[in-house]
Amino acid sequence: MSASKKTAAADDPKDRFIKIGIIGGGQLARMLALSGHPLGINFVTLEPAADACAAAVAEHVIGDYDDRGKLEEFASKVDVVTYEFENVPAESVKYLSEKKLPVYPPPQALAVSRDRLKEKTLFRELGIPTPNFSAVGNIEDLKTAVETIGLPAVLKSRTLGYDGKGQAVIKSKNEIENAWERVGKVDCILEGFIAFTREISVIAVRSREGEIRYYPVSENTHKNGILHVAIHSPNDPLQSLAEDYGRRLLEHLDYVGVLALELFVVDGATLMANEIAPRVHNTGHWTIEGAATSQFENHIRAVAGLPLGGTTVPNSCAMVNFIGEIPPAASVLEIKGAHFHDYGKFAKSGRKLGHATICRNTRNDVIAGVDEILALSDIS
Ligand SMILES: Nc1ncnc2c1ncn2[C@@H]1O[C@H](COP(=O)(O)OP(=O)(O)OP(=O)(O)O)[C@@H](O)[C@H]1O
Ligand SMILES: [Mg+2]
Repeated sequence: MSASKKTAAADDPKDRFIKIGIIGGGQLARMLALSGHPLGINFVTLEPAADACAAAVAEHVIGDYDDRGKLEEFASKVDVVTYEFENVPAESVKYLSEKKLPVYPPPQALAVSRDRLKEKTLFRELGIPTPNFSAVGNIEDLKTAVETIGLPAVLKSRTLGYDGKGQAVIKSKNEIENAWERVGKVDCILEGFIAFTREISVIAVRSREGEIRYYPVSENTHKNGILHVAIHSPNDPLQSLAEDYGRRLLEHLDYVGVLALELFVVDGATLMANEIAPRVHNTGHWTIEGAATSQFENHIRAVAGLPLGGTTVPNSCAMVNFIGEIPPAASVLEIKGAHFHDYGKFAKSGRKLGHATICRNTRNDVIAGVDEILALSDIS
């Protein structure tokens, strides 16, 4: 039941609260739940790990994503379902839909975003520029694709890639066999390597009624294939073009919730779509302290059928990911305008353990603040 259908005058406050089920229990689920609690929304997470970091702020069902018994238990506890990652099994979503549970964003967004071939094909259909690409199913296909696409190129597994995993850059023909081995001899796409000048992302949210709001774009830098720094880019000259591409996707997919579109900026004026994420996104973490309403709260509002919140960003802000190690809270909080987030996860090389946001009056001040945060650990 949507929040708007329940009466605010119910005797028991529990009757006013809706329960949102989140598939996945990582930091995105945790930040979604944290943003929804003030609205009187309760959360149930489903994921196999007992120590999932969202379990601290939600009722946690421990189970595999395709375990029918666990899905049944999860479904029985919630009014509406969302997810924090794109590799949710299609069968599980179908099962939940058969239980008459709304699933947002809609299953067609999952189907597109989990398969890079479908995703890039949709960009093309919607007139959104994207790198040249070819489907690759075996080594012979790969050799043919290299002839068509040219080098350098990037071989990417069609499914299950994240944080740059399942990818290999091919610079010369003698690297073809090795790239095929490294990516695991699975169904892939080969795409042209783009000599971009900047990487940006636009985060948009669409309500159940079809209203769309956009955040100012984020300028992103990666380290070892993992997002490292995201800086809010006010009045970006490519804002309206990025919004236009975002709108085409949201409307085509009849989308509800937050969607992130990652884009390469080429020659300063052209945008090429890299990928979409049908969920809240790491490049939007600075919206927690930086925007009128965070991406997390706006996703929850959309999923719960509530009015969307403002997306303006009054100051300048940026986010730094803590990957593999995390500095003490006190050292971050001593920095002017800094906010600290620790996801409560065990440290492991390459793992996102937390992030810091920095909000200051000007972009130059924010960039100086990013350097202060980077100086706290070896991650710079
Ligand atoms: N065709 C390309 N040309 C140049 N650089 C690329 C290309 N594809 C990917 N990259 C670089 O690798 C990064 C990761 O690629 P991509 O977003 O496709 O993978 P991912 O595993 O989904 O990563 P993430 O989880 O960080 O979004 C990109 O943000 C970009 O910096
Ligand atoms: Mg990406």
